[in-house]
Amino acid sequence: MNVWRLDAGAQTLAFAAEAGLPWVSYWGPRLPQDEDLDALAQAGALDLTGGMLDVLAPLSLCPEAGRSFSGQPGLVLADAGAPVFHFDRAEAKAGEIVFHARAGGLQLRHRIRAEATGVFTLQTTLDSDAPLRVIWLAAPVLPASQLADEMLDVSGKWSREFHLNRVAWTPGIRAREARTGRSGHEHPPYLILPERGCTNGAGAAYGLHYAWSGGHRMVAEELPDGRRQVQFGHATGAEAVGTSFASAELIAVYSGAGLNGVGQAFQHDLRDRVVCWPDARRPRPVHYNCWEAIYFKHNLSDLTAIADRAAALGAERFVLDDGWFGRRDDDTSSLGDWVMDRHKWPEGLHPLIAHVHGLGMSFGLWFEPEMVNPDSDLYRAHPDWRLGPADQVTGRHQMVLNMARPEVRAHLFAAISAILSEYPIDYIKWDHNRLLPVVDADQTLGVYALFDALRAAHPKVEIESCASGGGRIDAGILARTQRVWLSDSNDALERLRMQHDAALFLPSAITGSHVGPRHCHTSGRVLPMAFRAWVAAQRHMGFEMDPRELTEAEAEELTAVTAWYKANRAWMMAGTIHRLDASDPAMIAEMQIAADGSCFVVFAGQAEVSMQILPRPLRLTGLEPLARYRIRLRNVSDKPPQSRGPLALKTKSLVLTGATLMAAGINLPVAWPATMWVVEAERL
Ligand code: DGJ
Repeated sequence: MNVWRLDAGAQTLAFAAEAGLPWVSYWGPRLPQDEDLDALAQAGALDLTGGMLDVLAPLSLCPEAGRSFSGQPGLVLADAGAPVFHFDRAEAKAGEIVFHARAGGLQLRHRIRAEATGVFTLQTTLDSDAPLRVIWLAAPVLPASQLADEMLDVSGKWSREFHLNRVAWTPGIRAREARTGRSGHEHPPYLILPERGCTNGAGAAYGLHYAWSGGHRMVAEELPDGRRQVQFGHATGAEAVGTSFASAELIAVYSGAGLNGVGQAFQHDLRDRVVCWPDARRPRPVHYNCWEAIYFKHNLSDLTAIADRAAALGAERFVLDDGWFGRRDDDTSSLGDWVMDRHKWPEGLHPLIAHVHGLGMSFGLWFEPEMVNPDSDLYRAHPDWRLGPADQVTGRHQMVLNMARPEVRAHLFAAISAILSEYPIDYIKWDHNRLLPVVDADQTLGVYALFDALRAAHPKVEIESCASGGGRIDAGILARTQRVWLSDSNDALERLRMQHDAALFLPSAITGSHVGPRHCHTSGRVLPMAFRAWVAAQRHMGFEMDPRELTEAEAEELTAVTAWYKANRAWMMAGTIHRLDASDPAMIAEMQIAADGSCFVVFAGQAEVSMQILPRPLRLTGLEPLARYRIRLRNVSDKPPQSRGPLALKTKSLVLTGATLMAAGINLPVAWPATMWVVEAERL
């Protein structure tokens, strides 16, 4: 038997192979360095009993129907039958193993890498001597723990992204597929398998993320013999035809420290490996985005007045959203015509940008490159550039350009590059507002190629991935962008929940969060400024209301919280978000801990009225038990008039050990819904 191991952070993956494809013989906490991998693989062998074949087909990196594997195979070909692969060789070097196997004219490769950020990345490639039609090619297949009762996956919709689902493991298949041509609001490609008893702060969990923006398929299967497997691959639409195929990378992490261990690894990996920062030392600037202030009604005098107020509140980057190009007075026209609308902008953007720069802010601009309105000069000139049939149903009055065509990409590159060259723009909000008419990996590869070309030509420009809010948030797009627009909902109560759940994957530094208008445009709610401001300050902060609507008191409040964000962002954006297991279901709470552990902040959001009269203690997590921390409640002034008890934290700071803070917790004042308690702490 051939055996190998890879270690990443606190986890080990071990493999074994005989004549057929290799299989994962172990995935879990890091094993002792001198573990006998041969014995480990033998110990993992299973018995046979009645009702079974005479050999148990292996759950290999690509389970094979040709070897009588009765579950979901890892490779499905349209017309070449079910190949039987033979192990060829493994190339192992520090931190990486590539397994090679052959079946006739087919070469299958599984590349598994231990990343410095503590995760594994896994990718499958298939090459063929003759053209093939591939229906399904899974990234290297991992066995799933039989100690997990549930799967935790993510669903959502426009304005309510990142909703966690707990689904019981049962015999058979749970399949999820994003068939809309993007990673999607509906089934974003994330999965966590928590073992029995796992909480945010303790227990074992396995996390998986498929790094692909074009839509994926996930299959989690419990076989009749009890074994479990998880497969991720591209969404199955049109069969891929060719001689060379590749899955995207699957990112995998084991945590022995609860769901937070998974979150910590994903946050760290996305921020420090996947995202390429044009200038990593630059603090994440406070944004102002004008969308919910003016929509398509652009004019210089309103926007300069808005910019004055945004800068006074503390904004550092001014983003001009949709409506500056073609004849874009509403969403029915002009996508594709990336030239200034001279009716709105007779002198182009120069006067606005000069004003914005004069206020000390940088300037960002909205594009939706992949889209075209039938009512546009581009579509009139090139109707054949669209993706899908002419008689398709439009979405938001728009169609999609066929990004697999080099001439389409060349045109978009030239148009966008011309704007970026004419104006000093340091940021693009890159939107994507419709579902695709067909599922096609070449479309995604074409989009990636356009991103890559623009980034190479304009390396200092940061890009935000937006797709009707959070419709395209994945490591594929984040390898080309630096921020995600989590949701079009600027309702702080909704955001509080979404940010909490998204923190299992996304770090603060890339998660955009804005203070919206007083009357929320997506929910109609009216929430206090203090709460709206603190929720935005939990992530990459920005404003999106018309600042002329703010009362003096609201402006003062927002300015103060923005100043707090600026004073703390350096360590927060480099730190880790830990979700807290609040004993009160009415509370959504997290800690952000500095990378060196020297300070932390607790954000405890009261989302609704509690059932019990007084707040329950809130236990902290992730601290050094013996260290002493000075904690203080930052915003006692947000307490309601009914809060009249002698709580120490209302009047002074307290010094306590990490052990006490984690075991006994802290007691906060009573709170009305839509209150965010902010507890700051330093390690002494
Ligand atoms: C959808 C985005 O999510 C919004 O923030 C805004 O940019 C609009 N598109 C503009 O059309």
